[in-house]
Amino acid sequence: MTTRYGRWCLGAAVALVVVSGQVEETESHTPIASRWNYNEHLFPIFRDNCGSCHREGGIAPMSLVNYQSAYPWAQSIREEVLGLRMPPWKAEDGFGDFRNGHALPAHEMDMILEWSSGGYPQGPRGLRPDPVAEPDAWPLGAPDLELDMPEPFTVDAGTNELVRYFVLPTGTTEERFVTGADVMPGAGAIVRDVAIYIDDTGTARALDAEDEGPGFGEAEGRDFPTGAPLALWSPGRRSVRQEDAARRLPAGADIVARVHYKKTWITEYEEFVDQSRVGLYVGDESRRTVDSMLLSAPLPAGGLTLRFSQRIEQELSALAILPEVAIEARDVRVVAVTPDGTRVPLLFLREPDTAWPTRYWFDAPIDLPAGSTIEVDALLHPGADQAPGRSLFGADPAAPIRLVVDYASGTALAD
Ligand code: HEC
Repeated sequence: MTTRYGRWCLGAAVALVVVSGQVEETESHTPIASRWNYNEHLFPIFRDNCGSCHREGGIAPMSLVNYQSAYPWAQSIREEVLGLRMPPWKAEDGFGDFRNGHALPAHEMDMILEWSSGGYPQGPRGLRPDPVAEPDAWPLGAPDLELDMPEPFTVDAGTNELVRYFVLPTGTTEERFVTGADVMPGAGAIVRDVAIYIDDTGTARALDAEDEGPGFGEAEGRDFPTGAPLALWSPGRRSVRQEDAARRLPAGADIVARVHYKKTWITEYEEFVDQSRVGLYVGDESRRTVDSMLLSAPLPAGGLTLRFSQRIEQELSALAILPEVAIEARDVRVVAVTPDGTRVPLLFLREPDTAWPTRYWFDAPIDLPAGSTIEVDALLHPGADQAPGRSLFGADPAAPIRLVVDYASGTALAD
């Protein structure tokens, strides 16, 4: 909290200088020692790695796709990038391959560091980077089923962070198969992440009916969700649509959207009205069924390592992994070991962060024969604290590290 405020003051101080038109004088104190300038070199890096959040109206506190708003943050950018906190994609490059995001490539990180400590030059003024706007079309193409939140929901000025579940009836009359889902946020400046569930039990409807106002909250004793989300969306992550594997969507099932609203110090006292949309990609049949398995273990009594594994009884193709590291830990490593002893790297989180739930989709399905095991190990911080709060997939909140592995199997489609 204090550091953020401190950085904010720094940003504001530099910005004030700009307003009073003394940019040249200030800059002359920092000799230009960067081979890279904003307009030619840094803008494309910021646009592609940061711009989905750090743009006008995005969920981040400042735009990085405009020189005037980016350069006062040079020092803070340097710290966040070096500390691997930004961009918030936590999977280490070179350990598993993913299709929906990536860490900052090393040479781009070097360019950011050189630019930010080397006087952050703007570059040729004639070169005006294109503005970066909110996407106005579905990136994966028009969905087969488009569902709106039934009513607008107001996040009042006094609320900074909130989780709310909304029930979106599909109205389908036959069993269908979902190959992917995506979200178009309504209030894009505060919709941090959206988890989408399929519910054919009526549980979410009943909770909605009990709770005042649109949707329902995350109250004590409400056991929703109980399983893995169909999709997990946040700005800047590519949503995934699969070719030959799908989840079952029972006839008449509801889609439930768990929307996580969070403001920044810029939007802190504003009121927002959200009515986000969910797009579903559905087919009439599917060769392979997608399902999820849960891995978790209790906290070990003492010791600074946490290790657990799970055996796979049936041949499957691993598609994605959704970790929840609810304890202060580092170097969380997930490896699959096949019966012949081959070790297949799945995921490595050097600095996990609960603030950014992410499902990591493998570049290609990873075939694992029956008898393989998935091994998880992590280093716990001495006296590690566990973050309270419930699991996105209904895991025991007391388990310090839990994850779901999504997989496709060729088993019969009917239950
Ligand atoms: C997925 C959205 C997202 C992406 C992508 C992202 N950021 Fe951020 N960033 C945020 C949010 C939101 C915050 C505000 C702090 C918070 O809520 O965690 C933030 C905070 C920051 C801050 C600190 C601001 C402060 O208030 O102290 C810096 C610096 C920063 N980001 C730089 C970057 C850079 C550089 C990149 C790209 C290399 C990047 N971010 C990519 C969402 C993002």
